[in-house]
Amino acid sequence: MNNGTPGTSRLVRACRLQPLDRTPVWFMRQAGRFLPEYRRIRESYTLLEICAQPDVTVEVTLQPTRRFELDAAIIFADILLPLVPMGAGLSFANNEGPMINNGVETVNDVERLRTFEVREELASTLESIRLTRRALPAETALIGFAGAPFTLASYLIEGGTSKRFVRTKSFMYRETEAFHALMRKLAGVTQNYLVAQIEAGADVVQVFDSWVGWLGPDDYRDFVLPHMRAIFEAVHAAGAPAIHFGVDTGGLLERIREAGGDVIGLDWRIELDEGWRRVGHDHGVQGNLDPAVLFGPAGAIEQRTRAILERAASRPGHIFNLGHGIMPETPIESVMTVIETVHAHGAASR
Ligand code: CP3
Repeated sequence: MNNGTPGTSRLVRACRLQPLDRTPVWFMRQAGRFLPEYRRIRESYTLLEICAQPDVTVEVTLQPTRRFELDAAIIFADILLPLVPMGAGLSFANNEGPMINNGVETVNDVERLRTFEVREELASTLESIRLTRRALPAETALIGFAGAPFTLASYLIEGGTSKRFVRTKSFMYRETEAFHALMRKLAGVTQNYLVAQIEAGADVVQVFDSWVGWLGPDDYRDFVLPHMRAIFEAVHAAGAPAIHFGVDTGGLLERIREAGGDVIGLDWRIELDEGWRRVGHDHGVQGNLDPAVLFGPAGAIEQRTRAILERAASRPGHIFNLGHGIMPETPIESVMTVIETVHAHGAASR
């Protein structure tokens, strides 16, 4: 079977709402700790060392595509990498998540943050994209990505991962002008970085606004939406489709659509057809299997996967994925079961 136009990946076609032979599938965090071959590389390199060395980055990026029949590779990097040339200190404490020092506590800290030339300071990720694109077959799309301003701002202000975002929101309400200045700076970096990734060979880009679902709709409109719009306009002008991802965004979907992106990410807290109706059928959707389903028996995984495909109803524009990243303890066989089920039942043309 072919997927339509030769040389165009299923992923790109789905982003453009074009019909194809079957639903494309990939997994957020597919290059990572659930793979023994990734864990083996991590014995010799830290996360930041992998990201600094294009040959190692390419290897890790390709690992899941060797083991599974996936429609995309996602470049191995981290959303927090651009914070380092901005002047923040980034480290990954063992199993405790990222730690940022020298982040943002005061209005002056926002001014102190540097803007920089992405082609110089993030050159290794861009080089990894060039090399990976050359190594992949044309039908496998390469996804570039960056963090969205709100999610990045939360790391800068909280100093790491947060549960309630109290510091971030206090800064937003009390230092509104400085918060917007911070969002503008981060949006500028994200925008330049994504455009450079597209020029380096990324076929699609995904913007991770992982924690924006912790905001209410009015705050999203006032504090986030204009900055996101600027990013998606720049990406659109660079000619690649964009996926706009967030977690727990059920209260924000109309505004997320308004902010931009060809495809909107849905997590498992919403039924796929309801989420798609709310973002509109003139957009694609990506999702939305609960990553925890992969800890269940094969029968349950197959049943939940098929339920999502049924809700997509063969409408072009559905990209099968989890609702959030794959967890490190996930059994490999479960990933196989999802992929086989999508291949057998995911028809995307009508
Ligand atoms: O396979 C892929 O998806 C590409 C690689 C990728 C990483 N991080 C590598 C990584 C991607 C797309 C990210 C994005 C990312 N990073 C996000 C957005 C996605 C999401 O999950 O919402 C966020 C919030 C981060 C920040 C971050 N990086 C956290 C919170 C952590 C620690 C949590 C954890 O899973 O341990 C990281 C570390 C990280 N980034 C790992 C990987 C593979 C795991 C650490 C390791 O290998 O030591």
